[in-house]
Amino acid sequence: MNYNKKTVKDVEVSGKKVLLRCDFNVPQDKETGAITSDKRIVAALPTIQYLLEQGAAVIACSHLGKPKNGPDPKLSLAPVAKRLGELLEKDVIMASDVVGEDAKAKAAALKSGEIMLLENTRFEKGETKNDPELAKTMASLADIYVSDAFGAVHRAHASTAGVADYLPAVSGFLIQKELDFLGGAIANPKRPLVAILGGAKVSSKIGVINNLLEIADTIIIGGGMSYTFSAAQGGKVGDSLLEADWLDYSKEMIAKAAEKGVKFLLPVDTVCGDGFAPNAKSQVVKAGEIPDGWQGLDIGPETVKLYCAAVADAGTVIWNGPMGVFEFSAFAKGTEAMAEALSNTSAITVIGGGDSAAAVEQLGYAGKMSHISTGGGASLEFLEGKELPGVACLLDA
Ligand code: 3PG
Repeated sequence: MNYNKKTVKDVEVSGKKVLLRCDFNVPQDKETGAITSDKRIVAALPTIQYLLEQGAAVIACSHLGKPKNGPDPKLSLAPVAKRLGELLEKDVIMASDVVGEDAKAKAAALKSGEIMLLENTRFEKGETKNDPELAKTMASLADIYVSDAFGAVHRAHASTAGVADYLPAVSGFLIQKELDFLGGAIANPKRPLVAILGGAKVSSKIGVINNLLEIADTIIIGGGMSYTFSAAQGGKVGDSLLEADWLDYSKEMIAKAAEKGVKFLLPVDTVCGDGFAPNAKSQVVKAGEIPDGWQGLDIGPETVKLYCAAVADAGTVIWNGPMGVFEFSAFAKGTEAMAEALSNTSAITVIGGGDSAAAVEQLGYAGKMSHISTGGGASLEFLEGKELPGVACLLDA
C-alpha cells in the first residue's frame, strides 16, 4: 500500500469549499452526554486552522457512536460543535442534518474562513453502506475532500472513502503524521525493528503477528496472550486467560519466527494474582509454573530486564497492547517499565492506539514517545498490513 499521499499543502484551498472528514467520535458521559475527552477534537485543530487561515470554507463532518436507526438526539454532534468553537475561539455553524435542506443551505452560504459541522454522518443509513448516492450528495457540498479522520480510515464508508470518487481527495496533517510514523515503521523502518505485542487475546492479534513476522527483527510478547503461548509450549498457566483454540497457531508462530530468524521473546517469569482484582494477593513465579487458583496478570521482573534490553538498541519500536493489567497499580509495573524503557531509547517509538495509548498516557509517558496513534482499530489494521480504504482513496503524491 502506498503511504505517500497528497496533503492539504499540495492543493489550492483558498476560496474553496472543503469537506473535511474528522474523527470526532469522542467518548461521552453516559448520563449527561458531556464529552469526557476532547483529544480527538484537539488533534483535528492543526488542519482546521490551516484551512481557515488559507481562506477555505470548512464543512467538517464525522460519525459519533453507532446509531442504528437514523437520527438519534443522544448522538448529535452538537456538543462537539460547541467544544470545537471554544477551542477555535470561533463560531462553528451546526447543521441539523447531513445532506438535507439545512446542511445544503448552510454549506451554500458558508464563506471563506468560516466553519460548519454536519450532523453525525451515521444518521444517514447509506453512510456505513458506502452508498454512492450519499457520497455524491456529500461531495456536491464542496470542491475538495480532505480526510483527517485516521481513527476511521479502516472503514469503507461514504464519508471516509466514497466521497473521494467525486472530489479531489487529500490528507490532513493528522493522517499525514500517522502515515509518516506508522507507514515509516512498517515500510521503511530504522533497524532493528522491535515489535512489542500485548493485550488480552492472541485471536485479536493474529493479523498483526503474521504481518510483523515478515517485517520485524524482534517480537516481544506480553499481556494475557502470552499465557496461550506458554500453554502451547506445555507450560502450566493456572487460571490465566487461555485461548485453547489458538494453541496450535501459537506453536506455529514460534516455529515460523525461528525459521525466519526473527527473535521471538516470551516472558520468563510472571506476576500472578489469586484473582482478577486490584487488591488480589500476588506472587512472582517462573513462566509456565503458574499454580492452580492463580492467574498471570503482569510480566515478572526478569522478563522486564530481558525486554528492556531488547529495546535498548532498537532503531524502531512499535508497541501494541499492554504487558499486564495496567489498570490495577499492583500489576502495572511491567507496562510501566516498558514505557520507561521506550522513553529512554533513541529509537523511533510508535504506540498503537487504543489500550496501548491509554496505558502510556495513564502512566505519564505520552510526551516521551515519537508518535502515539489516534486510531484504535485503524492502527491495528495498519499493523496487519491491510489496505485502509480511507487512505487508499486519497491521491498519491
Ligand atoms: C474509533 O473510535 O475507533 C473510530 O472512530 C471508529 O469508530 P467505529 O468503530 O464505530 O467505526
